[in-house]
Amino acid sequence: MTTRTRIAIFASGSGSNFQAIADACRAGELDATPALLVCDRPGAYVVERATAADIPYFAFSPKSYHNKEEFETHIIQELTRYEVDFIVLAGYMRLIGPTLLSAFKGRIVNIHPSLLPAFPGLDAVGQALEYGVKLTGVTIHFVDEGMDTGPIIAQKAIEVGAFDTRETLEKKIHEVEHLFYPKTLQQLFSVKGEAAIR
Ligand code: GRF
Repeated sequence: MTTRTRIAIFASGSGSNFQAIADACRAGELDATPALLVCDRPGAYVVERATAADIPYFAFSPKSYHNKEEFETHIIQELTRYEVDFIVLAGYMRLIGPTLLSAFKGRIVNIHPSLLPAFPGLDAVGQALEYGVKLTGVTIHFVDEGMDTGPIIAQKAIEVGAFDTRETLEKKIHEVEHLFYPKTLQQLFSVKGEAAIR
C-alpha cells in the first residue's frame, strides 16, 4: 500500500507554485497531501490561495519572534501538529536555519529559477538577463545550510530569446516550474517509497 506523503509548502508571495502543487495533488498527478502552507508574510496572496483551496496555513511575522531559532521552533510545532513528512519550498524568501534543517534532515527541497550553480540567491532572472546568457532554467534541489547550494535533483533548461524581457522570461520560467515541480516531486516520493532518501 502506498501512503501519501504529507507535505508542507513554504511560500512568501504570490504562490503560483503552491497552486500548481495543490492542483496536481487534487488531480491525482502527485501522490501527496498538501497538509499545511507555511508563510512568513501574513498578507501574501498565497494565504488567499490556501484559504480558497481549503488547505490549512500557518502565517507568521518573523519580527514578532526574538530570533530564527524561536520562529523555526514554532514552525516545527505546527509541522508536528499537521503530521508533515516533507517540506517543499516554493518562493520562500528566507534561508532555512539549523533548527529546522536538523529536524527535517534530507526532507526539504527547493525550486530555484536558474540552472544552479549559476545565479544563486535573489533575482536569478535579473542576474541571467544582466549576464546575457542564452540558456537559463529551473533547478530543484535538496536544501542544506547554504544559499541554493544543496544537491541537485533535477534541472530543465529554458532558452533566453533575443527579445526576452524580465516579464516574458519570468512567464516562461513559471510555466515550466508549474509542470516540472509537481512531476519531480512525484518521482522523488515514488523513489522514497522504495528507499529512504539520503
Ligand atoms: C519561483 O520562480 C521560484 O522558482 C522562486 O520563487 C518564485 C516563486 O513564485 N523560488 P510563486 O510565488 O510560486 O509564483
